Amino acid sequence: MRLEAITALTTAALAAAAPAAAPVKARQEDKVPNVTVIATGGTIAGSGSTFDTTGYTAGVRPIKDVLGDIPDLDTRANVTSIQYSNIASEAMVSSDIVDIAKMVNNLLCTPESDQAGVVITQGTDTTEETAFALDALINCDKPVVVTASMRPGTAVSPDGPGNLLDAVTLAGSEVGKGRGAMVVLNDRIQSAFYTSKMNANNVDAFVEKNAEIGGFLNYKPYFYYTPSQSTFKKTFNLDETLKQNDTALPKVDMIYGSQDFDQNLIIAAVAASDAKGIVIQGVGEGSIPSFAEDTINSVVAQGIPVVVAAKPVYGASAPKEDASSKSYIKSGFVKAAQAKVYLELALANNYSMDQIRDLFEGDLRSAMFGQ
Ligand SMILES: *[C@@H]1O[C@H](CO)[C@@H](O)[C@H](O)[C@H]1NC(C)=O
Ligand SMILES: *[C@@H]1O[C@H](CO)[C@@H](O)[C@H](O)[C@H]1NC(C)=O
Ligand SMILES: *[C@@H]1O[C@H](CO)[C@@H](O)[C@H](O)[C@H]1NC(C)=O
Ligand SMILES: *[C@@H]1O[C@H](CO)[C@@H](O)[C@H](O)[C@H]1NC(C)=O
Repeated sequence: MRLEAITALTTAALAAAAPAAAPVKARQEDKVPNVTVIATGGTIAGSGSTFDTTGYTAGVRPIKDVLGDIPDLDTRANVTSIQYSNIASEAMVSSDIVDIAKMVNNLLCTPESDQAGVVITQGTDTTEETAFALDALINCDKPVVVTASMRPGTAVSPDGPGNLLDAVTLAGSEVGKGRGAMVVLNDRIQSAFYTSKMNANNVDAFVEKNAEIGGFLNYKPYFYYTPSQSTFKKTFNLDETLKQNDTALPKVDMIYGSQDFDQNLIIAAVAASDAKGIVIQGVGEGSIPSFAEDTINSVVAQGIPVVVAAKPVYGASAPKEDASSKSYIKSGFVKAAQAKVYLELALANNYSMDQIRDLFEGDLRSAMFGQ
């Protein structure tokens, strides 16, 4: 047999015996869901030197670069990115929340929507506020996922790429539907209604035990429960919320309780800062010193709602049975940062003092007092 013939036979035999050629990377863009990533900045877009896990600059890298750090992302979703801003999350203001809510609503909740879900990237410092606002305002059952990172992309082992891959996969998933807005970091899925940042430095920063509803394996989501949402959650219609002012939410100020509580801060919030509502993080389960009650009641009498949240992460600021429309409101399980968002939304919707009390206290009041 001539050499060429032997070679040809051998090649044919090898081809027949060999398993199918190593799979070329699956290009499934026609099958994968469409997911939009709205980037606002934060550590996930941060940049520093290799050893900086603090002191780096947040909100530097474009989202296209951040997405580019994730191999094979296109096998999970057809991702479109929007660079809304590139700032640290402590610099976000209510007009950002209004803009983002409008964008998410247009992308997900219109009849012509072709997007399965939306991911918002931002800094962890105010993640719980953005997620809570979107939880209340976006109500078409598609996944809305807020993700972030604790280390910038320039660190030795950045957490951003994995978090973003988790978040995109969840946003495109069927199992992610009907669960309200969610926060994703470090392979955890947390309910926006209950979550809190629990650690200022560690990658496992969002570990609020009452908020955990699922996790990720192989960057794919699983849930501990069938689709459900917080018993205490109330929703707001976006158009109604923006009827009065379609660029910003009413101003609510926040005061932190302690020994030597200074009640002049409450007066100043109304007089000098023009707050339309006040949230006080009271000590303990939302305790207010008796010497400050008259001042608070005088502010409430002017039509300025005062909502008092608990200081510890766990437990409720429980309503009082004898509360009248002339006294402050307890925030229930809603923590101070999120109570501020809830109050802004209630004020934008022209809620009366009684409606605001019902928003925060209603469900616990009926559980506790049968009212
Ligand atoms: C990917 O998303 C873009 C933007 O929504 C869209 O124009 C394009 O058709 C999508 N590609 C596929 C294959 O669905
Ligand atoms: C993705 O968006 C494109 C463009 O609108 C649309 O044609 C396609 O059906 C969408 N894909 C899915 C899986 O919905
Ligand atoms: C909406 O609120 C912002 C911030 O308070 C203010 O600057 C703006 O003038 C308001 N717009 C309207 C239409 O009232
Ligand atoms: C709230 O009241 C203002 C002023 O009367 C009005 O312009 C706005 O439309 C009202 N908003 C809602 C949601 O009813």
